[in-house]
Amino acid sequence: MTTGHTESDGERLQKVLARAGLASRRRAEELIVAGRIRVNGEVAVLGRRVDPGRDTIELDGVRVVSDTTLVHYLLNKPRGVMSTSSDPEGRPTVVELVPAEPRVFSVGRLDLDTEGLIVLTNDGELAHRLMHPSHGVEKEYYAEVDGVPTPATLRRLREGVELDDGITAPAKVRLVDQQPGSGVRGSSIVAVILHEGRKRQVRRMCAAVGHPVERLVRVRIGPIADRSLTPGQWRPLSTAEVRALDAATQGKVLNDAG
Ligand code: URA
Repeated sequence: MTTGHTESDGERLQKVLARAGLASRRRAEELIVAGRIRVNGEVAVLGRRVDPGRDTIELDGVRVVSDTTLVHYLLNKPRGVMSTSSDPEGRPTVVELVPAEPRVFSVGRLDLDTEGLIVLTNDGELAHRLMHPSHGVEKEYYAEVDGVPTPATLRRLREGVELDDGITAPAKVRLVDQQPGSGVRGSSIVAVILHEGRKRQVRRMCAAVGHPVERLVRVRIGPIADRSLTPGQWRPLSTAEVRALDAATQGKVLNDAG
């Protein structure tokens, strides 16, 4: 089907790149001249015009979000809030903590009792890539557990724990802190970094090795962390952060925004 759209319609590419927060117009022109910008898979030349709502623009192979209707929020989900968009039982939901318009949804889930970082967006493409297990973006959790795991137990958590839905994939696990004095067995904080995201995975892994989770906080999603957000607070992700997340879904690490 033809829509009458041609490359001479639309806005100048450098203007769209600048508006996307990627770089100044001048720098955007340099990026185009350097051959680092692709439009719909083809290297763009200076003078190229684009339709920001339709054309796919990339810098160094990573998408540039040029559609100004897309929003991306980082929320610190409090305990007791559902990460679904609505709850038949009327419990509070994450979408009630961010602006109502445009409508957003959460990327993945955290348990009702889990706190920490969650992305809310109307960007279906990013959400799809982040939730796809093959893209394996790391998620880091701080689990406050009952007791203090021994080095051998930490190794079990790292190497794989037998759960009722199968053995867990290798994980990065380290003891962050221990409070031998609290409770009968003391307690500790264990950092767990997962690529998979099975239901209640951290809670089930820790329980399976004899250290039930008392509190669970997600502190990082791929390259995104923010210790300054208090529970219930949110902020927009920056252009650089959205790019870094996009890059992470492609197994890339960005060290600058262009
Ligand atoms: N693992 C859990 O057990 N719960 C979460 O919410 C996320 C990871």
